[in-house]
Amino acid sequence: MLTLGIETSCDETAAAVVEGGRTIRSSIIASQVQRHGAWKGVVPEIAAREHVKAILPVVTKALTDAGVTLADIGLLAVTREPGLVGALLIGVAAAEALSCATSIPIVGVNHIEAHIGAPWLAAGDPPEYPLISLVVSGGHTHFFLSSSACDHLLLGATLDDAAGEAFDKVAAALGLGYPGGPAVERAAKSGDAALYPFKRPLLDPNGLDVSFSGLKTAVRYRCFEQDPDGRPLPQLRPGVRVEDVAASFQAAVVDTLVTKSSVACRRWKTPRLAIGGGVACNGPLRDALVARGAKEGFRVYLTPPSLCTDNAAMVASQGYFRFMAQGPDALPLVTAPRAVWRREAAVAPSSPQG
Ligand code: KG4
Ligand code: ZN
Repeated sequence: MLTLGIETSCDETAAAVVEGGRTIRSSIIASQVQRHGAWKGVVPEIAAREHVKAILPVVTKALTDAGVTLADIGLLAVTREPGLVGALLIGVAAAEALSCATSIPIVGVNHIEAHIGAPWLAAGDPPEYPLISLVVSGGHTHFFLSSSACDHLLLGATLDDAAGEAFDKVAAALGLGYPGGPAVERAAKSGDAALYPFKRPLLDPNGLDVSFSGLKTAVRYRCFEQDPDGRPLPQLRPGVRVEDVAASFQAAVVDTLVTKSSVACRRWKTPRLAIGGGVACNGPLRDALVARGAKEGFRVYLTPPSLCTDNAAMVASQGYFRFMAQGPDALPLVTAPRAVWRREAAVAPSSPQG
């Protein structure tokens, strides 16, 4: 079966055709990053208006590139939550209109669950469950215990800023532009990661919640000039190099995520961890996770960078598995925030130490 996936939750208008849940026949992404750069972040109103312009050409190109027409499509899958509501509604309205006009069944997809499934789109072998799924993006930092493509137990999450949000905010403070993650990674290459040993925000050593907002504040107080009342100013202190701050900050985020990944695998006795989401593009994070896994005996499944950031192939794939598990959704789709996973408190392991 061919699934047409549509993604418009943030600043990428994307459509893709995926066969049988895992084989990508086409994947088109129209990025709005140039439109938001001047504001150092995504402006919801601009995002929605750009989606209106791009949605039909992007869907048409996804069908053309796959060498198919709507008549060949067996399922429509669209991101329905979470995200910017004005942006989400453009994709949902387009998918609903296509479904009404053609009677193709439709499934609403949770964006985070789509990121969870992305590692398996390019993988030769299907996933072996259970496994730890880590989603690190601009909006989310979530650890799950996944038992199937549609069954996830939330083990821990950020209490404040997501990892990508922290990258974006520190990049903005350092004048590195938007999106911040790739810019920080580039600057960090020629920096000294040990120069500013920022405290790792690990919270409860056995728990899987994280917090990145204090780290961002620590960067400001340690490296930026201060006014007479001790408040940080926009300029770096004399002699402080952007590259060293970027490298030291990145090392703190990487250390935190790798340490928590190790806790997750140990505590839940699961020797497999898959990572997706935009921050999973980060080279030092990928290398450090694989190295820790090799040392401690857990295998790391890395999502290819092109499938880490927002795309519609992961939405089509997840929609396929949701459809197989529970059939189509009724129209209209609801775009209200709605968790599709269970929380850890419901199924705590007997020994927290593992
Ligand atoms: O998954 P994504 O495309 O969108 C959301 O669902 O949020 O993730 C975007 C986030 C941004 O915060 C961006 O700065 C971050 O992923 N990112 C990175 C890298 N590439 C993208 N963070 C660190 N290092 C990277 N190389
Ligand atoms: Zn995303």
